[in-house]
Amino acid sequence: MRSAKDFFAPLAVGAPAPLHEIPARPSRAIHFFDPSNAKMAAKIPQMVGSVDVLLGNLEDAVKADNKLAAREGLVAIARATPDLGGPGGRTQLWTRVNSLDSPWGLDDLTTLVGEIGDRLDVIMVPKVQGAEDIHYVDRLLAQLEAKAGLTRPILVHAILETARGMVNVEEICGASPRMQGLSLGPADLAADRRMKTTRVGGGHPGYLVRQDPTDGEIDAPRAVHQQDLWHYTIARMVDACAMHGIYPYYGPFGDIADVVACEDQFRNAFLLGCVGTWSLHPKQIAIANKVFSPSVEDIAHARRVVAALERDGGDGTGAVMLDGKMEDDASLKQCLVMVHLAEELAAIDPELKKLYDAIEVTA
Ligand code: GLV
Ligand code: MG
Repeated sequence: MRSAKDFFAPLAVGAPAPLHEIPARPSRAIHFFDPSNAKMAAKIPQMVGSVDVLLGNLEDAVKADNKLAAREGLVAIARATPDLGGPGGRTQLWTRVNSLDSPWGLDDLTTLVGEIGDRLDVIMVPKVQGAEDIHYVDRLLAQLEAKAGLTRPILVHAILETARGMVNVEEICGASPRMQGLSLGPADLAADRRMKTTRVGGGHPGYLVRQDPTDGEIDAPRAVHQQDLWHYTIARMVDACAMHGIYPYYGPFGDIADVVACEDQFRNAFLLGCVGTWSLHPKQIAIANKVFSPSVEDIAHARRVVAALERDGGDGTGAVMLDGKMEDDASLKQCLVMVHLAEELAAIDPELKKLYDAIEVTA
């Protein structure tokens, strides 16, 4: 275990110094594309500026025969696309590399850091099992960054998609100052846990509770309520991330046609504390941007609470009544989470800024 003093020292001579804090860069939608797919790759330049994150996927969903083409395709796209990735990028550039036990993971890291390390903001590492995986990637990245002469550390994002990774979630979040966040990987996680689902994320109609029978009539109609399969996992992930100052994300929603259930799943994650989600199809970008941006109503209310608790020289402590509801220090803190998020989003999204700026705070 590195001591606190060593934690922020570079892991290789010449590597950039680790960050002390992970910047809160808006990342409502992480849009996945396959860089070996010429049709998808051709659309990337026009997506820059309209989505928070573009992620070149090299792992699952890319055929084994296309792994090298995907890696090379990502290098070519990063080089040819202005404003994508890097400190001034209008859209962040992330990648999902192949898993550490695969035949491609090592070459993915060495090629990408060497060729386009200055453009890559975050590397997503799949199937992370414990802190040891992050330690390995951390040191390797430091060596590669030093060799490539990079001046900015590349951040690491882990996918939570094994039972062991789930059990080790806190230590994974705290394993390196590079840790930017976690995503839920519901498909792999379901398989690894031996859950009996066959879908990519979302709910399941069989996971329910049923009202007791009336007068022993077990066959009579009774109210049933579907439960959330992912509540426990997302809640644990959110706590682990919050404890370490990093960011939690929902993952894939595979039923592309069901935009309504997709929005529900994204909203559940937003309400529980996630800052964004994956997008597997362009239509999911709009859903993510809507859901992971606080609504005008929420911001209007939040600003009203802030104004009420700070009115007449108030310092935000104590309690006030607004519309028959008690607001105090704790509800103020919740409102400030929303207000700060709105400020961060308004800084990159002019349409949203207009909407938030037009809000009039009423007494
Ligand atoms: C994502 O990678 C998943 O397995 O759900
Ligand atoms: Mg997976």
